[in-house]
Amino acid sequence: MRILVTGACGQLGTSLRPLLPDAVFTDIVEAPGTRRLDITDLPAIRTLITAEKIDCIVNCAAFTNVDAAEDQPELAELLNAKAVENLAVAMREAGGFLLHISTDYVFGGESLNTPIRETQTGKPTGVYGLTKLHGEEAIRRTGVRSIILRTAWLYSEFGRNFVKTMLRLTAERPSLKVVFDQVGTPTYAGDLADAIVRILHQEDRAKEDGTPKGASAFSLATAGVPSSLSSCRVFHYTNEGVCSWYDFAKAIAAYAGHTGCEILPCHSSEFPSKVVRPAYSVLDKTLIKESFSLKIPYWTDALQRCLKGLLQG
Ligand SMILES: NC(=O)c1ccc[n+]([C@@H]2O[C@H](COP(=O)([O-])OP(=O)(O)OC[C@H]3O[C@@H](n4cnc5c(N)ncnc54)[C@H](OP(=O)(O)O)[C@@H]3O)[C@@H](O)[C@H]2O)c1
Repeated sequence: MRILVTGACGQLGTSLRPLLPDAVFTDIVEAPGTRRLDITDLPAIRTLITAEKIDCIVNCAAFTNVDAAEDQPELAELLNAKAVENLAVAMREAGGFLLHISTDYVFGGESLNTPIRETQTGKPTGVYGLTKLHGEEAIRRTGVRSIILRTAWLYSEFGRNFVKTMLRLTAERPSLKVVFDQVGTPTYAGDLADAIVRILHQEDRAKEDGTPKGASAFSLATAGVPSSLSSCRVFHYTNEGVCSWYDFAKAIAAYAGHTGCEILPCHSSEFPSKVVRPAYSVLDKTLIKESFSLKIPYWTDALQRCLKGLLQG
């Protein structure tokens, strides 16, 4: 497979680089090892696909700032839905495969207390989740051969994320309040990148022998969609386990040895925000584990691996 990665300068895109040395890495801005590709520009996508003989796109590009999306709904829709449709259309025309990253935020408006399956219907609480849901729907409409991979609470050594923020704040402050009434599962982008590469390998092999892995997911994941469009499969991936943001912060500080900061649990209402964040965001990963024989690391083990890199670097 000749692979194109979009949003390659973001957390996940950067984590994929060492694992896909032959892929074409692109982002909105040109950078070392990164070609410019604006995914809102369909002709530019088509040109690059043809020139590089691309038959697989891994879409890591998105408008990911949940709060800013409330102020810029049109831009969020353009990047998270229309641009995703562009990639899907271009890949369908090329007879290729699209692996798109989506989010737990497509859920959130429901009252949930058991891990969320791929087949459940999402009711987003804000612009980010709604536009990501529109992106998923756009992919299904095109009929492109695709996988939508939903993840949550992503962090890495790169860019801005909760782990890096907590590392800084717990080093600087004597105390810190962190919400305990939102639970989910942290996801180390390095582990998600490993899972993506495994999926791509199996997809490549399956294409050769004509039997897509996880084929049982077709009817499940496309409930309500005509069978003619059932070329899209949905999977969930996070690290294993469940915690609150408070537990996550406690673990970060403990592993980093930041003992001088007292971390206190608080309610979300103490941090008023434009977006109601999902209270229960635990994704069920049974399907992806069975379909791709994946062993998923526990969240604290993954966190320690990431911190090792961050604290040494
Ligand atoms: N972060 C999380 O907690 C989280 C949780 C669940 C799911 N996800 C999903 O996981 C995926 C990867 O997330 P991430 O945290 O790695 O994202 P990220 O770090 O925000 O990276 C996204 C990249 O896309 C680029 N981009 C923006 N507009 C573009 C355009 N028009 N054309 C091409 N590239 C463009 C961004 O550039 P600029 O920085 O210059 O805008 C950035 O480099 C996304 O689909 C996200 O929705 C993330």
